[in-house]
Order: sequence, then structure tokens, then C-alpha cells
Amino acid sequence: MNKVGKGRLQTLNENEVTNKTAYLNRRQIIKAAGLSTFLGGFTESAAQPLKVADTAGARGPPWLRKLVSDASVGRFSTTEKLTPFEYVTGYNNFYEFGSSKSDPSEKSSGFVSDPWRIEVKGACEVTGQFHLEDILRGQEIEERIYRLRCVEAWSMVIPWIGFPLNRLLSRFKPTSQARYVKFETVYRPSQMPGQSSFFATLDYPYVEGLRIDEAMHELAFIAVGLYGEPLLPQNGAPLRLVVPWKYGFKSLKSIVKITFQKHRPQTSWQLANSKEYGFFSNVNPDVSHPRWSQATERRLPSGLFGSNRMDTLPFNGYGDEVSHLYKGMNLRIHY
Ligand code: MTE
Repeated sequence: MNKVGKGRLQTLNENEVTNKTAYLNRRQIIKAAGLSTFLGGFTESAAQPLKVADTAGARGPPWLRKLVSDASVGRFSTTEKLTPFEYVTGYNNFYEFGSSKSDPSEKSSGFVSDPWRIEVKGACEVTGQFHLEDILRGQEIEERIYRLRCVEAWSMVIPWIGFPLNRLLSRFKPTSQARYVKFETVYRPSQMPGQSSFFATLDYPYVEGLRIDEAMHELAFIAVGLYGEPLLPQNGAPLRLVVPWKYGFKSLKSIVKITFQKHRPQTSWQLANSKEYGFFSNVNPDVSHPRWSQATERRLPSGLFGSNRMDTLPFNGYGDEVSHLYKGMNLRIHY
């Protein structure tokens, strides 16, 4: 079996992956917007100068490092150029740490992701509290290079490490009542300053959900690492969802609770503004966000000398795999 190790990463452009200093010297200043907090949601160009936090020592326990470094090369990876590590870990949306793109990397160094427990409840035969070690024991870990398309109309290509979500969910034996799965992020205001901020745009904990057939689809993924290392706090350590055919806000970070249920859960962004953010949130170039078009996207890095703009594809380019899930549905209504 092929391994995802340093050898494979070194086949990439050296500047992009290994030479952070050289990369940072030419980092781009992206025009600031910074109004999102007051507008009660995202803004299309919610972009700020890229700053990179010192991440030494924030890379998970040894057993997780070993698991991640032993990952195999999975199917379903795009061959598109990877977004540089510095962008993937320095330009983030994680409102629990603040609403600027640099807040998650700058304000998460005190975030504790080991030990970690996940509660599983609702319409399933196996319920309870589970240690991360137990959840990951025996899982075959693989790399998936996916496109991530944010509702703000920027995108990245990220080499995630993890395993299919369906493999996790099946272990809890969902019953026939389990038509939806609800996910919750940790609520820990002492370590997540955005949760207690006066300017918070969302009610916490951050909640997301999937229909059970979406959750069981082979492309829905649980990431525990990226670029060959365990996830950093800003990317959702120690484990997060990655649903590549949906806008990025469905890919909830730092999961602590999974509930199988009959009824569709209300998600954080729907509760904040249901006219702008729907439950399905499939990437759709034909349905504009009320405040901007979704027809194109800026593939990061973009900057002063080129916006790197490209057409957005239906279902973020994963239509062949997932469009059957929405057969007969009007996706303008079910946005
Ligand atoms: N999960 C939580 N708990 N809180 C958040 O603010 N932001 C979402 C998603 N998951 C968010 C979250 C959004 S809007 C995006 S685009 C992706 O995370 C960004 O993931 P990344 O920062 O790892 O690129």
C-alpha cells in the first residue's frame, strides 16, 4: 500500500510545501473587508492579510501523529495544484475564535484537543461517550485531496487525511428512524474567545446536519489531519467533517456530539439567516447568494497580480458522484 509521507509531499513544488520562509516573504496582502460581524454573516471578500501562527507543539498526541503519517493514498483525489500549507492553516473560518481570517490561527494556541471525547446519541443502537482513540482504533486512514469551496466565493485544494464518515456512523448502528445526522462543535468559551464575544454572529455550539444518505455517501469524510500531520486547532482539531460538494460551512470542525434523528436539524447558519443559508447548501453556480454571485470563485492564493478566478462547478465538481442524491428536487428552493 502506498504511504502518504514526506516522500510524496516532496514531489510538490518546494516553495509551496516545505519552504515556508520563502513563501511567506512573498505572501500576498489580500484586501480587507472585515464587515462580516456587523452584517450578520459572511461577506464575499471577507479577506484579510495572511498571518501564520507559530504552530510548534500543537500537532496532536504521538499515537495520532503515527496514525496520520501511516495514511494510504485514497481514491477520489483531485490532481489540481494544492493550496499552500500556509493558506490552509492561516486563512480560516472558525468563528469560535473570531471572525477574521487570521483569528483561528492566532487565537487557538491554548485550545486543548487531547484528550477528546465524542457523545453519540439518538436513533442508533450504540450510544454513549467515546474516546477519540477508540473511535480511530482500527480505522484505515487515507488521504483525500478535495476542493473546498467557501460560500464567500473563495476556494482551496486541501490534502486531507482521514476516513469516510459512513465508516464512523455505521459503527453506531443507526435505526430506521435516523433520517438525519446532527453534528455539534465543542462549546468551550474559555478557550474559544469568539463564543463569548459581544459581536458573535452565531449561537453556539455550532451545529450542522446532513440527510442520512448524504452522510453515508462515500465522499463525506472525517478529517483528522492534513498535509501529512494531525489537524491544527484552526482547521478543526482533532476531527472535523469534510463534505466537498457543499459550501464549506457544512464542514463543521472539532466535533463533540453526533445525534441521529428523525427530524431535520436546524443549523447554525440557517438560524442566523435562513434567507442566505439553507440546509442543503450544495455548491451551485446557478443560485446566487443574495449578496453576491456564486458563478465564479477565487482559488487561493490570489492577490495583487491575479485573482486566480475560475468558474464554479455544480456540486463543486463532484456532480457525477452526488447529483443522484438530489434527483427530483428543485435546488433553487432547497438551497
Ligand atoms: N466549523 C465551526 N465549528 N465553526 C466555523 O466557523 N466555519 C466553516 C467550516 N467549519 C466553521 C466551521 C466555514 S465557513 C468554512 S469555509 C470551513 O470551515 C473552513 O475550513 P478551513 O478553515 O479548515 O479551511
